[in-house]
Amino acid sequence: MASPLTEAEVVRVRVAAKINLALRSGPRRNDGYHSLATVFQAVSLYDEVEARWAEPDVFTVTVLGDQADLVPTDDTNLAIRAARLLRDLVAAEPVGVNLVIRKSIPVTGGMAGGSADAAAALLACAVLWDLDVSPEEMRDFGARLGADVPFALTGGTALGTDRGDQIAPVLSRGSYHWVLAFSEEGLSTPEVFATFDELGEVSDELTVPPELLSALVSADPVELGKTLINDLQPAALAMRPDLARIIQAGVELGAVGAVVSGSGPTVALLAANEADAVDLSVHLSALGLCRAVKRVSGPVPGARLLT
Ligand code: C5P
Repeated sequence: MASPLTEAEVVRVRVAAKINLALRSGPRRNDGYHSLATVFQAVSLYDEVEARWAEPDVFTVTVLGDQADLVPTDDTNLAIRAARLLRDLVAAEPVGVNLVIRKSIPVTGGMAGGSADAAAALLACAVLWDLDVSPEEMRDFGARLGADVPFALTGGTALGTDRGDQIAPVLSRGSYHWVLAFSEEGLSTPEVFATFDELGEVSDELTVPPELLSALVSADPVELGKTLINDLQPAALAMRPDLARIIQAGVELGAVGAVVSGSGPTVALLAANEADAVDLSVHLSALGLCRAVKRVSGPVPGARLLT
């Protein structure tokens, strides 16, 4: 290591949540995962991760902010696992880190919050420890931690294949205005996939709608709204029938599209423009159907240094 930062210094990384504009899933594979064809969009809802120098082999995490009490702070924490993985694979000398995560992304909300924190921890520790790691290596390390981590590193709009961890950029013009409906209770991704298996509604062909890709090219939110698709949505709705009311209310209040985000339970409502998104969020909030309502836009970049 050339010149590690001193104890007083801090590295800050900001990382965005994701929505799946399309999520097509095949059947369960022998490795327990499902082959996917998914279109991710990173949206302006951010966690922040701070990394400070610690004694060699000391790895700690403190979680602050929304739902912080729901995040484990032991060695199962995905950000700690990211830091340890980077230490094991790259660091030439003994290192340690004290991490602080400021959460805004819902926990077990279908928006890849844990994966986002892992991506941010990888970047923050690579800078703190002054490691020479290429973007490709970062994505490879990320994929070992979770299927959504490579996308959390890159952000923007991207096609995800295999487990969702093989990322290719997708051409997207314009900015899209979303209203997110957060639930009181989260949903476990493995349980949603298990329910998906039980329902047996597997996509024969793992393709995303071509109309969705054209809508992104032509910056057409109305067309995009019509083409949003999530194969996990029937499973999420079977486990949480109340989500159907949020989707219905969103459409009645003028959303041009509505979809469960990933494995849920967050519902993403697409507005035609920013003014409509403001109206939609105010009126949806007043109905009291969900824990919180948040207005975001996308696409935005993935994990980025703040200092
Ligand atoms: O990769 P990650 O740990 O985030 O995935 C959480 C769980 O979601 C997996 O253990 C698996 O049960 C399920 N999953 C899946 N197929 C995928 C991605 C996730 O079955 N492509």
